[in-house]
Amino acid sequence: MTNPILAASAQSTEAYQQAIAQSSAAVVKWLQQPEMYQGKTVAELRERITLDFNPQGLGNQAAIERAIEYFLKDSLSVHHPQCVAHLHCPSLVVSQAAEVLINATNQSMDSWDQSPSATIIEMKLIEWLRTQVGYQPGDAGVFTSGGTQSNLMGLMLARDAFFARQGHSIQQDGLVGNLKKIKVFCSENAHFSVQKNMALLGLGYQSVTLVKTDRFARMDLNDLKEKVAQAQANGEQILAIVATAGTTDAGAIDPLRDIAALAAEHQIWVHVDAAWGGALLLSEQYRDYLDGIELVDSITLDFHKQFFQTISCGAFLLKEARHYELMRYQAAYLNSEFDEAQGVPNLVSKSLQTTRRFDALKLWMGLEALGQKQYAAIIDHGVTLAQQVAAYVAEQPNLELVMQPQLASVLFRYRPASLAGADNAAIALLNQRIGDALLDSGRANVGVTEFDGVTCLKMTLLNPTVTLEDIKVLLALVETTAQQLPTA
Ligand SMILES: Cc1ncc(COP(=O)(O)O)c(C=O)c1O
Repeated sequence: MTNPILAASAQSTEAYQQAIAQSSAAVVKWLQQPEMYQGKTVAELRERITLDFNPQGLGNQAAIERAIEYFLKDSLSVHHPQCVAHLHCPSLVVSQAAEVLINATNQSMDSWDQSPSATIIEMKLIEWLRTQVGYQPGDAGVFTSGGTQSNLMGLMLARDAFFARQGHSIQQDGLVGNLKKIKVFCSENAHFSVQKNMALLGLGYQSVTLVKTDRFARMDLNDLKEKVAQAQANGEQILAIVATAGTTDAGAIDPLRDIAALAAEHQIWVHVDAAWGGALLLSEQYRDYLDGIELVDSITLDFHKQFFQTISCGAFLLKEARHYELMRYQAAYLNSEFDEAQGVPNLVSKSLQTTRRFDALKLWMGLEALGQKQYAAIIDHGVTLAQQVAAYVAEQPNLELVMQPQLASVLFRYRPASLAGADNAAIALLNQRIGDALLDSGRANVGVTEFDGVTCLKMTLLNPTVTLEDIKVLLALVETTAQQLPTA
């Protein structure tokens, strides 16, 4: 029997090189497929993909061939110019190289003795990210699996700090008191992970108060002030305000400085979900959109969005390191007091995960390979392109711009003059069908979402290689597709 483990032997290293070469050759072929997607339906893929494992094993080569046939060929081409539905980026070439190194070394970030150089690189990157934000020097923060987990960490520490101020340890004793009176505020456009996380934290969806938004989908400060006053009058207590820097659809950035000032008056924790807008930390043209981010208690960043890293790669930053004490756990086998006393780094105490990938390497290599100038340019490209696309959409007689872009997304809908008298439901259904028909055809993936009760189409223009001309082609496709669809 051949050794299946990656190790030093000639047989193993040869098998490794063969497997990587076979896989990367297949990727190169896949990248050149002209279609964005082969257009198979859910039922067709269910029928096609079977898990009939061979008890003897197929060997690496055949297993890779089957993955190419059944997975790769029917994958969505995220690098395709017409793939614009989600905050789902094409990735940097250097991120692929980083993945090879991350995977082959299989370091685990939960203790220094499982990831010596990786631990130091991650800590230094956290220090660097803090300086980009404008936080005091330090290393309070950690890489995460993405925005949902980073938001969970922010809300959890906000909850635990809130109870600690009243002399109660959630870690030791769990939740106590009249929990129905505890609230978290976020805008009605905040990410749904706020609700999901509050449910996980034992306070339920009922704890989330939605603050109204203005015509640019940003949190309305007056409504926030009124709701805070109202909550206090009702004897409710506000655990945290979650501000968003880059809402998922509109890319709206809440007024961070004003929110932080209001929260400071009332001693309320502010967490900023900058999963998308955090990319502007590197921007040359748009960095000021994040004005005030340095004032908040904790921050979510996501590098698998407009930082062009492979999934997954995110970070959580904590303004004051002392709050990390709220989640400290001393496990003898990982982070003993003996080791800590000797200055051995301890990342497991900063993370919700135990075993954890060295995803930080991707950001480090990205910054090294591109340099900050090129990184800024590819981030700014999407924001600028969205403005150009919006101007173009506004000129098209059959299209309607639903809202002015703020980051790199454009919300619009198909609404020709012939449908001027049609009711909203008919126009909504037509736009939904356009999105579905485009994906079915395999030619484009355009988002379908709702903004202010209006069903609309969404282009998220992250891809820095996409031009206005590419988007004009896509919009023409939207129109021809629409014209072939029933309107009722
Ligand atoms: C604003 C915002 N926050 C959080 C998330 C969740 O991030 P993740 O998918 O990395 O968990 C998203 C996802 O799109 C998002 O748009």
